[in-house]
Amino acid sequence: MNRLIVVSNRLPFALDSTGEDLWTVTPAVGGLVSAIEPVLRDRGGTWIGWPGIAGEIPQEALAEATRNAGYKVVPVALSEIERDEFYYGYSNEVIWPLFHDLQNFCNFEPAYWQAYKEVNNRYADAIIRCGQADDFVWVHDYHLMYVAQALRERAVSKNLSRLTFFLHIPFPPYDIFAKLPQQQRLLRALLQFDLLGFQTRRDVRNFLQCVRRVMSDANVLSRSELQVVRFEHRKIRVGHFPIGIDFDAFEKGATSDSVEQRAQRLRVTFPGCQLILGLDRLDYSKGIPERLRAFRAALERDPELRGGVVLIQIVVPSRVQIPRYHEFKDRIDRLVGDINGRFSTSTWSPVQYHFRSLDRDDLLTHYRGCDIAFVTPLKDGMNLVAKEYCACRIDNDGVLILSQFAGAAEQLKSGAVLVNPYDVEQMADAILKAFRMNHRERSARMKRMKRGVHNENVFWWVDSFLRAGSQISTAHPRQAPPVARPDRPTRFD
Ligand code: F6P
Repeated sequence: MNRLIVVSNRLPFALDSTGEDLWTVTPAVGGLVSAIEPVLRDRGGTWIGWPGIAGEIPQEALAEATRNAGYKVVPVALSEIERDEFYYGYSNEVIWPLFHDLQNFCNFEPAYWQAYKEVNNRYADAIIRCGQADDFVWVHDYHLMYVAQALRERAVSKNLSRLTFFLHIPFPPYDIFAKLPQQQRLLRALLQFDLLGFQTRRDVRNFLQCVRRVMSDANVLSRSELQVVRFEHRKIRVGHFPIGIDFDAFEKGATSDSVEQRAQRLRVTFPGCQLILGLDRLDYSKGIPERLRAFRAALERDPELRGGVVLIQIVVPSRVQIPRYHEFKDRIDRLVGDINGRFSTSTWSPVQYHFRSLDRDDLLTHYRGCDIAFVTPLKDGMNLVAKEYCACRIDNDGVLILSQFAGAAEQLKSGAVLVNPYDVEQMADAILKAFRMNHRERSARMKRMKRGVHNENVFWWVDSFLRAGSQISTAHPRQAPPVARPDRPTRFD
């Protein structure tokens, strides 16, 4: 087994300053971290990433945060300007909204692209510093799509035998991708990797469609499970690898006495009610206002739901410095206020709203304690909340209402109640359907979903990706391939 080097913008924790030389360490939230962490803990390796603060990295706090990690951590520092223009800017005001089909939310500020390349160069330097010839270099997510190009521009990629990349978020269809000012430069950069992994078949299809339309000198060769693109005398493999969760760890955690007791307490707090769980990072792609509107419509239409259900909506703070995230939170606050103002009685409030992070036990408690999970992103790479909910249903009970636009829908459609998150009426129907679903049907659906989540877990995901990566020929071509042309705008982008 070659050494694994994972490269991502996020490390599994974020440092935060609480005063001179005082630091807090907070576990990072989100799909990428919760998938990669158990894998590196299991296999060992190196994780290169950003510890979440701008400026110099406090070495003592870092050593403290990584002491028992079980793998090596190599931090990459970002200045304040880089954080603003690379992380908040190009990554989260350009790529994030565009790749979630929300192009009206994009801020195509030209300076962001420069910062994006510079920070990707910095990551390439970190890989060069700690990489060896036989390492398996696995770069993650939309922040770092330029890393392989940066390595090839430094002409060192031939020493690193496998350069691979996995995109955790969706890849958009051509008509949306075409709006990106750097469309050709970005595709060229992605084609400098040897293996490109996406979450779903839909994303692979979209990516290849963009390659065909934008890169006239690339050839898409085969239509087997793993597709091949020929570009600049190289073969790039492209496939879908749906990310999973550490099923056993979730299931085990959910059976613990403390979680059982807390879940029981949660249920008795709302006697006679079915509990519906909404759990999301604060993000406009998650469809929270649409979900609240659907819940309001369901209460308006169906009197049996009034006093019979409670929606526990937990919103985990995220990217709070981006103005659009503030506006979005205000919208959620207002909708919750409206629903509770209209429907609450002296003994019942329809929405329990929390704006905070959850620790692990708290998370498991909510998965175990809630009868229905309401997971309705407008678009999502995968959505691991849906899978975690299934893993924690140790009694095989519970209903998952799931957006058809979450990557997880491809795997969970046989058991979930699928909805279009833009269709408020349909989502209101789904609430009633879930509320009335008999035990037999709930259990049959949940068992089907659990089987899939169990079999296609996070270790299966890693193995299938590494297996695909092992097909990359590591023999260095006798004649070195042409070094990627340095980034240069063309009339196409
Ligand atoms: O895949 C999207 C992602 O990078 C995931 O790690 C996670 O869902 C989220 O975004 C985390 O966001 P951030 O790193 O900006 O806090």
